[in-house]
Amino acid sequence: MKMLVAQKMLLLLCVGVSLAQDLIITERLIDIELRLKATEETLEELKRENEALRTSTKAASDKLESIQAENKVKKVAFSVGLLASGSQQIGPFDTRKTLVYQKIFTNTGNAYDSNTGIFTAPVNGVYFFRFYAHAQTSDQMAVSLHKNNQLQCSVYSMKPQNNANGSNGVVLSLQKGDEVYTQMWENSWVYDDGNSYTSFSGFLLFPM
Ligand SMILES: *[C@@H]1O[C@H](CO)[C@@H](O)[C@H](O)[C@H]1NC(C)=O
Repeated sequence: MKMLVAQKMLLLLCVGVSLAQDLIITERLIDIELRLKATEETLEELKRENEALRTSTKAASDKLESIQAENKVKKVAFSVGLLASGSQQIGPFDTRKTLVYQKIFTNTGNAYDSNTGIFTAPVNGVYFFRFYAHAQTSDQMAVSLHKNNQLQCSVYSMKPQNNANGSNGVVLSLQKGDEVYTQMWENSWVYDDGNSYTSFSGFLLFPM
């Protein structure tokens, strides 16, 4: 059967339209695929960012914890008198003796041990120490402050007419665990009573 020219043209038109539609659909599909790919990439990037944030948040909270711990241990101060009660001449001995101060005014951080007379640095830092010694008789009084086994500074009174007082202080850079204490020399003595003439104090100036 012979088609009319008009019929042929209509058919061609239809094919054309259908091809054009196919093309549009394919283009859309490609477009969707590209967008999907872009979305996936964005998602990956967000995941990476999230991971980085998680890591830095963890680092920040770890740092905060360590600062808080450091802050807690930063409160270090003590002040002690030799006798908790009564009055007493202490000494003389034939060797140097660590003075064990019994009256606790303050011992924040518990770094001073009243059983041994020794202060143990709880953190690396710069500390200030001061001590006073009082002698009541005409005999010699000598006390030194030690860091670990090393003498740092001393007070000394040879033969006071009636009584004597000595005081010294020092700023020390300490490592955690370093020990600071005072020792009375051989053949000397100190006196103390309710007035706490003989005392020992120290505190952390700042950690390092
Ligand atoms: C030592 O200090 C005490 C208490 O402040 C004081 O009474 C005494 O006179 C002082 N001794 C000397 C020799 O300065």
